[in-house]
Amino acid sequence: MPDAVDPPSAWVRRFLRHIPAAGPVLDIAAGGGRHTRLCLEHGHPVTAVDRDVTGLAALAGRAGLEVIRADLETAGPWPLADRRFAGVIVTNYLHRPLLPAIVAAVATDGCLIYETFAAGNELFGRPKNPDFLLRPGELLDAVRGRLFVVAYENLEITEPRPAVVQRIAARNGNRAVSTLQP
Ligand SMILES: C[S@@+](CC[C@H](N)C(=O)[O-])C[C@H]1O[C@@H](n2cnc3c(N)ncnc32)[C@H](O)[C@@H]1O
Repeated sequence: MPDAVDPPSAWVRRFLRHIPAAGPVLDIAAGGGRHTRLCLEHGHPVTAVDRDVTGLAALAGRAGLEVIRADLETAGPWPLADRRFAGVIVTNYLHRPLLPAIVAAVATDGCLIYETFAAGNELFGRPKNPDFLLRPGELLDAVRGRLFVVAYENLEITEPRPAVVQRIAARNGNRAVSTLQP
């Protein structure tokens, strides 16, 4: 798990403004809470979900924070039921069967911001298991027909360390960018 003081992903920072102002955010597999913290600081209530919520302890008691301890990979029901969020953030986490539920959790006018390791990362380090590596175009496939793609990349990066990542920002609706937060 990343340390709680890890900086937010540059991709998440870049597309945060596509989440409607003050809209609720779902941070899936929130870990140390770097994006939970970022969103709270930007005025969003946040629901942070993880099977291990110890990394969120430093944020306990923050106004607008809901922490849900749940194992997302058991056969049990999706813990968010039919709740919808203005922003859904997933970074450095992949459990393929969840992709449809993650996309469905994006409210009208909301935005999905997803970034994790992709095929090819095995040349650089962990994760190497294909179960944890996105296939070419997999995030595009996951949102096709459901969300509008604002941006998508599948590339080698050097910061914060050499890796291959795939990332997407995709909106539920095609609201003009001029109406977004500055
Ligand atoms: C590499 S960390 C990423 C944390 C955070 N998203 C970030 O980028 O800083 C992966 C996170 O996924 C969580 N996780 C792994 N398996 C999980 C599961 N089955 N259910 C819920 N969370 C899980 C871990 O506890 C960990 O916090």
